Amino acid sequence: MTIEETTVTFDELTSGLAIERDRRNDWRRTAVVYQIYPRSFADSNGDGIGDLPGITRRLPALADLGVDAIWLSPFYRSPQADAGYDVADYRDVDPVFGTLADFDAMLQRAHDLGLRLIVDLVPNHSSDEHAWFRQALAGAPGSAERDRYIFRDGRGEHGELPPNNWQSVFGGPAWTRTLDPDGTPGQWYLHLFDAKQPDWNWENPEVRAEFLDVLRFWLDRGVDGFRVDVAHSLIKAPGLPDQQASEDEGADDTEGYFHTGPMWDQDGVHEVYREWRALLDTYSPARILCAEAWVPSLSRLARYVRPDEMHQAFNFDYLESEWDAAHLRSVIDSSTAANDEVGAPTTWVLSNHDVVRHVSRLGLPAGPRPNGIRAGDPQPDHQLGLRRARAATLLMLALPGSAYLYQGEELGLPDHTSLDDDLRQDPTWRRSGHTEAGRDGCRVPLPWEADEPGLGFGPGGATWLPQPAAYRELARDRQEDVDGSTLEMYRSALALRRAFALAVGDLSGLDAKAGVLRLRNGELTVVANTGVTPVPMPDGELLMASAELPQGGMLPPDTTVWLLTEAWSE
Ligand code: GLC
Ligand code: CA
Repeated sequence: MTIEETTVTFDELTSGLAIERDRRNDWRRTAVVYQIYPRSFADSNGDGIGDLPGITRRLPALADLGVDAIWLSPFYRSPQADAGYDVADYRDVDPVFGTLADFDAMLQRAHDLGLRLIVDLVPNHSSDEHAWFRQALAGAPGSAERDRYIFRDGRGEHGELPPNNWQSVFGGPAWTRTLDPDGTPGQWYLHLFDAKQPDWNWENPEVRAEFLDVLRFWLDRGVDGFRVDVAHSLIKAPGLPDQQASEDEGADDTEGYFHTGPMWDQDGVHEVYREWRALLDTYSPARILCAEAWVPSLSRLARYVRPDEMHQAFNFDYLESEWDAAHLRSVIDSSTAANDEVGAPTTWVLSNHDVVRHVSRLGLPAGPRPNGIRAGDPQPDHQLGLRRARAATLLMLALPGSAYLYQGEELGLPDHTSLDDDLRQDPTWRRSGHTEAGRDGCRVPLPWEADEPGLGFGPGGATWLPQPAAYRELARDRQEDVDGSTLEMYRSALALRRAFALAVGDLSGLDAKAGVLRLRNGELTVVANTGVTPVPMPDGELLMASAELPQGGMLPPDTTVWLLTEAWSE
């Protein structure tokens, strides 16, 4: 390159700097997003199930907490076979949650409070009660109606064996056989999840056009974007080959989300997201796409956030990390490196509606992440878990990039770990032959007011799942303005994160020694002691601590601190 080629005018330079500044301040790179699980957030009509008017009423609590945006799990018309992740009509609200008018009122209220609102989009599968699936069942094999889903003849002499060996994520085969109109067994259809969640055929242009239209429907209503459900599964390998046993290797979690194989993370999915991104880019103000993609490596994950694809992708490696300085260091390091390659920030997360809450998870001995905890299972140590969870959160909120919080984690809620098995609703429980508890334990209705029936969840006190006894002391009103409460820790951390622009800060000095993790973000030094012995407190002005600090300048185990420092102090 010659000198002439690199010469820029003053105007070019300043406009370049302005673009860079806008890019850094883009909320899609920095936001703290609070996940609302609608059926368990707040109930307005006393049926024990949370709903949209309930959310609208409680939104000020979230503005007050200091989050930037909300992600709403599905509220669409649905028979609720997988808590709404089985959508029968993508353009309507399920009566259990309210109406489209309730949605509009909620969105308006959120925007009035300065909160952005992201909705959940479920493109891998619909409900079997979706009009198009009904038409597919009524249609003949090979018909245009069937081609919108994935129907195949069975193997075996009479087609009595499923078309391939794929297993459902919830347990059991990923294929269900249909009955022809005359009652004889017919073709099979694919469902990577429940039998009531048939997979769409993303090779079909009609399906692609339909989803672009669904996106437009919600964008035109004013939503700020989408969290995209199982974003890594839309395209399947050509010919739907059997999954090889070796492809299960490296599946280190019990839910099997990380399995590699012909149904996950195929290159063709990226074409879909480029098309969606192009549509979103025609809207102003800026709209977001966030991928839920359980892919086996951070470099594969980074492909979802290339400049012309999505803006965010959940960093599940961080969620899965043990509470161990060396492990955390390595995940933080490799996530930021992988995303730097594509110019994207990292999207930190510790809890959501699919995993055991981090308070409970970190209160268990290290080991594979359980898919729910039952009464007869070893129980988490709540105090230890809460202490570590607070430390883990304070570490997360110090990191540059965006972060997602799951409703109730700001209260330090544990899972319900002794739920009566008869009350379980997650299809995982049934489909695993009652071997996997599933995800009900993290989906229990929130405690708002300790002395109200149902802990203030809704009028009359009904709750679709019982709240564990521990929730009373953790109710929001017991923590509000209480020094040292988990709620106040979250509120202060979010305020300081904003004040110190941590989301756009430069990470440096990442280091893990003898169970102690250190890093710098701008003027801030962050130290997390994941070990079992106190270590000397580093110098600096103390801004935040995840636990009470003893006299004598030591940093106790399972504690994170934020310090204001000039330079590195050893
Ligand atoms: C995603 C959702 C989960 C759902 C599944 C099928 O993983 O987060 O709740 O069961 O997709 O839609
Ligand atoms: Ca209700």
